[in-house]
Amino acid sequence: MNNFTFQCPTKIIFGRGTEDQAARELKPYGNKVLLHYGGGSIKKSGLYSKVVKSLKDEDFEIFELSGVKPNPRLSMVYEGIKLCREKNIDCILAVGGGSVIDSAKAIAVGVPYNGDVWDFFIGKAMPEAVIPLGVILTLPATGSEASNSCVITNEDGWYKRGLNIDLIRPKFSILNPELTYTLPPFQTACGVADIMAHVMERYFTNTPHVELTDRLCEATLRTVIKNTPVVMENPRDYDARAEIMWAGTIAHNGLLGTGRQEDWTSHKIEHELSGIYDIAHGAGLAVVFPAWMKYVYKINVNRFVQYAKKVWDVETNLSDPEATALEGIKRLEQFFKSIGLPTTLKELDIPSDRFEEMAQKCVKFTPIGGLKRMTSEDIVNILNLAK
Ligand code: NZQ
Ligand code: ZN
Repeated sequence: MNNFTFQCPTKIIFGRGTEDQAARELKPYGNKVLLHYGGGSIKKSGLYSKVVKSLKDEDFEIFELSGVKPNPRLSMVYEGIKLCREKNIDCILAVGGGSVIDSAKAIAVGVPYNGDVWDFFIGKAMPEAVIPLGVILTLPATGSEASNSCVITNEDGWYKRGLNIDLIRPKFSILNPELTYTLPPFQTACGVADIMAHVMERYFTNTPHVELTDRLCEATLRTVIKNTPVVMENPRDYDARAEIMWAGTIAHNGLLGTGRQEDWTSHKIEHELSGIYDIAHGAGLAVVFPAWMKYVYKINVNRFVQYAKKVWDVETNLSDPEATALEGIKRLEQFFKSIGLPTTLKELDIPSDRFEEMAQKCVKFTPIGGLKRMTSEDIVNILNLAK
């Protein structure tokens, strides 16, 4: 096990009716709040009126910035920073999925910074201050509600880039599984693929002696695999929604990666896909992850055998470990298909003409890959496997 520091200070408030607590939680940070949300799902569900009422009850002055798009854009982040500065806003409340939260995180670090917030996403500077951020989560997927990450797309060149720093973890996040009842099945499935990918990016490592986190990863994956068909059948199954929602946070708050080298190749490739083709992040991962697995499994067959056995109950073929490993990868693909996700680029209408460009962009700023360090040629090979 490697040395590590783990600090996840985000306060999680979980359960029915907990959204009512947001205003009270924000109170210590001031009385001018930026209410940040997406394209209207929270208005349709009635959550918006509830939140506005509770903020007014606590005497907040509310400034709204809505219209965050999936794969959130830098232009809106600039808009948010400008608004916060002009109105002297004290804190932000993000209500929505990962895109809204990430947009809010970028605004939160951008407000106190003198330069261009994009500097943080290209490694030109690191944030040193932040304005406080609270979250009401409506989509279990990205784990952004407690993660140290924030992913933004710069429309100038369609670069989708992440910033990772503990400073951007929200002060609190409210998770009410009932708020996820309105998710369309495809969005639920995309969220599930993302949650599983966050665990698997950490699970597939060459670091030895990471038993505890291996078991935690397997338990998280198994819980998601078991409960997903339940919510597909009955979207209002509270307990199954709750299991998935909590798994989404656990998968990406950093705990499961403690003491081990992580990989993240599949995410980096997916960010190129969703940066250019504007696809749902989880759908892109359902295509890229199995392709990456097929490309790298021979590097650490034993780990892939363990995954097949412990996550998918594949029977061990002692004379042919590679067959066991491949069966585990096949089960993952079958699972994604069974919940309505694509597993090929063709299904996403993505042609091969920009593979080279995406591969170059992928390795441009930082080296990628923990299990295997990737060159741009490797990335093209993986994309070809995903066709
Ligand atoms: O915009 P609204 O109207 O709210 O609709 C959204 C959006 O259209 C809708 N939705 C959300 N909650 C709903 C709902 N519809 C009905 N009922 C609800 N309860 O779902 C659509 C997708 O929302 P979005 O926030 O884009 O999805 P997700 O949570 O998957 O976020 C994806 C973004 O997060 C990034 C991804 O790359 C992508 O940009 N990621 C962020 C990470 C992080 N910060 O830690 C890590 C991830 O690996 C990921 O890269
Ligand atoms: Zn992800």
